Parts: sequence; C-alpha cells; structure tokens
Amino acid sequence: MPRAAKPTKAAKPTTPGPQDDVVDLLLAQHAQIEELFLLVAGGTGDARRDAFDDLVSMLAVHETAEEELIHPLVRTLPGAGGEDLVGDRLEEERQAKEMLNTLIDGGVDADGFDTAILLLRDAVLQHARHEERYEFTRLRQHIAADRLRGLADAFLEVESAAGEPSTPDGGSDPLDDATRDELYEMAKEADIHGRSSMNKRELADAIREEA
Ligand SMILES: [Fe+2]
Ligand SMILES: [Fe+2]
Repeated sequence: MPRAAKPTKAAKPTTPGPQDDVVDLLLAQHAQIEELFLLVAGGTGDARRDAFDDLVSMLAVHETAEEELIHPLVRTLPGAGGEDLVGDRLEEERQAKEMLNTLIDGGVDADGFDTAILLLRDAVLQHARHEERYEFTRLRQHIAADRLRGLADAFLEVESAAGEPSTPDGGSDPLDDATRDELYEMAKEADIHGRSSMNKRELADAIREEA
C-alpha cells in the first residue's frame, strides 16, 4: 500500500484570532489533534477513514512547522538545557512518525489498528504536553508579546507550504481536492480493484497509476 509522503488539503489547522500568539495557536492545534484521535478511535467505516486522513494531514503540517520554526527558535533562547530538550522533542516526533507510517501502510482496516492508534495517541499527546511544558513556557518567558503574535502568522505560512500538494509541474493536483466519493466514482470507472477498501489517498494514488 502506498505511503503518504505528502499531506492532503484536508487538514485545516486552527487559525488564530487577532489577539492570539503562536503559543495560543499551537495549544489550539494540540487540542484539535486530540479531537481527531477521538474521532478516529471512536469512528467506523468511511467516517473513520476520513478522520484518519485528516489526522495524518494535520500531524504532518503541524510537526513540520514545529521542526522548521519552533524547535530552532527554542534552541536560541537563554537558559541551560535548550539543546537537550529540543533533541528530546525531535526524537519523540521521529518515533511518532514511525508509528504513524506503520498505521498508514496497514490502513484503518488492518488487524491491530485499534490498539496501535491508541498507542500513537498516547505518544503524540505526551509529546504535545512536553512541548507545552518545556518549550512553550520558554517562548512566553523570553519572547516579546508582539513578536509571538507575528510568529503565529509565520507558523501558518510554514504549515500552508508544508500542506500544499505538489505535482511535477509545480501546480496543484485536482485529485487532491476531490472527495472520497468523487475519487471512488473515478476508481469505479477505471475498474480499479480493491477500491472499496481504499481511503482517499489510496484511491488518488491508484487513479494516478492507472492514468
Ligand atoms: Fe511536535
Ligand atoms: Fe506540537
């Protein structure tokens, strides 16, 4: 089964209000991730598949933007141990990505998905709590309020670039914007076998391969 290297446009990370700073934004996205885990763990059929796709997209853009913007910034802040605490967060992110890729490879119908998604949820939420405790407190402590507000916009820009599906010619692919139902109909027309058990990404990949 194909591995999803690129997040889809389905991820809609929380955007900040005018008074929100980057820490408010990150906390809201952590809450959003927690909610998506609930939807996946408690969902069935297509609802579960769609929630899992959204979770995969959301985690991809959130963690990428943290790796590009937040962790390097925390490294530069005063106080001992910055390097170690960022290193620990990066290791947590690496382990979570490994677990997530195993789940993507198997799909939501794989044996053991129910247990594995709960283990991933625990790992991701523990990682988020560590970021909140060790990194976000430092950001608030050492960075001026107006700069923190500006960083919220910068974070969203990095997320938007990370979540933009790309094609060889640099344009966006309409298949990435199609719903699962639309993709399913296209797969039916192309007589793609196994289409009923595929999620959105798998359907899009199979249609591209057929074309
Ligand atoms: Fe993170
Ligand atoms: Fe985070």
